[in-house]
Amino acid sequence: MERIDKILSNLGYGSRKEIKAIIKKGLVEIDGKIIKDNTIKINPKECIIKVNDELVEYKKYIYIMMNKPAGVVSATYDKYDETVIDLLDIKYQIFNPFPVGRLDKDTVGLLLITNDGELNHKLISPKWNVNKVYYAEINKPVTSLDIKSFEKGVILDDGYKCLPAKLSIISVDENGSRVEVTIQEGKFHQVKRMFESLDKKVVYLKRIKFGNLELDKNLEEGSYRELTQREIEILNMDPHN
Ligand code: URA
Repeated sequence: MERIDKILSNLGYGSRKEIKAIIKKGLVEIDGKIIKDNTIKINPKECIIKVNDELVEYKKYIYIMMNKPAGVVSATYDKYDETVIDLLDIKYQIFNPFPVGRLDKDTVGLLLITNDGELNHKLISPKWNVNKVYYAEINKPVTSLDIKSFEKGVILDDGYKCLPAKLSIISVDENGSRVEVTIQEGKFHQVKRMFESLDKKVVYLKRIKFGNLELDKNLEEGSYRELTQREIEILNMDPHN
């Protein structure tokens, strides 16, 4: 049970004060009855709420897939840079969403944004070891030896031994290589540092898959959409069961 003014305010219908005024004007209806008291408590999942004769679509959580562009940071607030949250419409920002994990400022591709703390916790927990798949362009030819090093677990500059990772070569020429990398961890600059320890440089990085969720090919960089119900279910499934 929650106060009606809080519910409507969280859904973006205005400040608590504004909601109080709307209610006083008789514009809010619950289960067919106009209410005049802004403090009443209801279960928003079980009541039919109307504002100005329009049905209120109640939801507690939002789930967004973004094709993150380069140049924005994966944070809710930043002193200097534009954030992925700044790119969202205000109707999503009012849910106070945050990115699930991080992509570097220059990395593009699949980023999940939600206000569901429990799902976030599961997806970034080492217990779930969610697979993350990246398409990467590398400045030098990648070899079968590199594939073996990834399989064994690359040792990073700080001595950390990564979990086994999958590296597949898409194409190689004198200018470098295009590869696909699957990792389960999410250490700071992980993919870039894995290649650095093999004396190679990542020149372009795009995340194309997160768990069982693939980046929607219709999403241009900088655009986003809400997840479908099915996609939310897929994300909530333990990937190892
Ligand atoms: N690995 C990186 O180096 N950068 C990212 O943004 C994601 C994975």
